[in-house]
Amino acid sequence: MKRLVVNKYGGPEVLQLENFDKLKIEESKLRIKVKNIGVNFADSLIIKGRYQERPRPPFSPGLELSGEIIEIGKKISNFQIGERVIGIAKYGTYTEEIIMPAENVYKIPDEMDYVTAASFPVAYGTAHGAISWKGKLKKKQTCLILGAAGGVGLAAVEVANAFGAKVIAAAGSDNKCEICIEHGAAYSINYNTSKIRHQIKEIAPNGVDLVLDMVGGEPAEDALKNLAWEGKYISVGFASGIIPKISANRLLLKSSYAIGLYWGQYAFINPTLIGQSFDDLIQLYLQKKLKPLVGKVFKLEEAAFALDYLLSRKNTGKIILNCN
Ligand SMILES: NC(=O)c1ccc[n+]([C@@H]2O[C@H](COP(=O)([O-])OP(=O)(O)OC[C@H]3O[C@@H](n4cnc5c(N)ncnc54)[C@H](OP(=O)(O)O)[C@@H]3O)[C@@H](O)[C@H]2O)c1
Repeated sequence: MKRLVVNKYGGPEVLQLENFDKLKIEESKLRIKVKNIGVNFADSLIIKGRYQERPRPPFSPGLELSGEIIEIGKKISNFQIGERVIGIAKYGTYTEEIIMPAENVYKIPDEMDYVTAASFPVAYGTAHGAISWKGKLKKKQTCLILGAAGGVGLAAVEVANAFGAKVIAAAGSDNKCEICIEHGAAYSINYNTSKIRHQIKEIAPNGVDLVLDMVGGEPAEDALKNLAWEGKYISVGFASGIIPKISANRLLLKSSYAIGLYWGQYAFINPTLIGQSFDDLIQLYLQKKLKPLVGKVFKLEEAAFALDYLLSRKNTGKIILNCN
């Protein structure tokens, strides 16, 4: 069996393919034959040693996977061999086979193929956490999404739309903006060719009820200036590399909220909450309200190219690795 390993921190090129022997299973864990793996922006940070989670090399990166259960620990009664599942991990999913705690593994419906399933956990889970538990988004409210054509961003466009909100998608090219409209955004803003601050004012003169920020930098600071009365700004990530400044006076004037979300941590502190979230999302998927977009599929051994492609900002939706 093969897995990709980081032996020293660096760029995607440090990933090395290695063979490994069958791992020992523990009684509360599952052995999964990995089918597909979701590639995330966070993988690039973990490989560099610049993420909240900082495993010491050697380690395998990767936060999510889809696959088939091939062995069950003695204490597990709620899973069966052959079941199709998704799993989430702090790192380690860039591999052909994995042992995972059962509480971080969730069943998927027959209607969902393995590639789609691998694109689902982090992107839709984070989007749902931000929109549902943190943002408490209501029907007809306005929701501005920064980095809206990325993995989390496009999932957020669909989830906010399914919640009945008026979605404003902000992304870095006209093509990406069009894709956001196809996935349910009512409006789009290209923040590389226009001033997002003025555009938001035109679209939502009373301000935005909820901002989901995957990008940081100037678009985030502009969005913060355009919050509605009691509006919420949720910081999800800083793909631009620039952490935005939040002015307390602006929060005071609008009686508004600045909130952080570390979804990955909820997955381990409160896996039941994550399970409920996936149940809600799977229902939306079965009702065809969510249409996950996989922009590109690479082989496992091509993960460095996959990460370079993600970092080049060419992709829309998710990038997936294939183990078959
Ligand atoms: N808090 C959490 O629990 C959590 C969970 C998942 C992800 N995240 C974070 O959320 C962010 C998005 O993650 P993702 O997996 O959706 O990533 P992604 O698919 O790569 O999307 C990121 C988007 O950010 C935009 N961007 C702006 N400046 C960029 C730059 N310098 N380099 C790369 N992209 C840039 C790109 O869109 P444009 O080209 O259109 O600008 C891109 O589509 C990341 O910061 C990630 O770490 C946080």
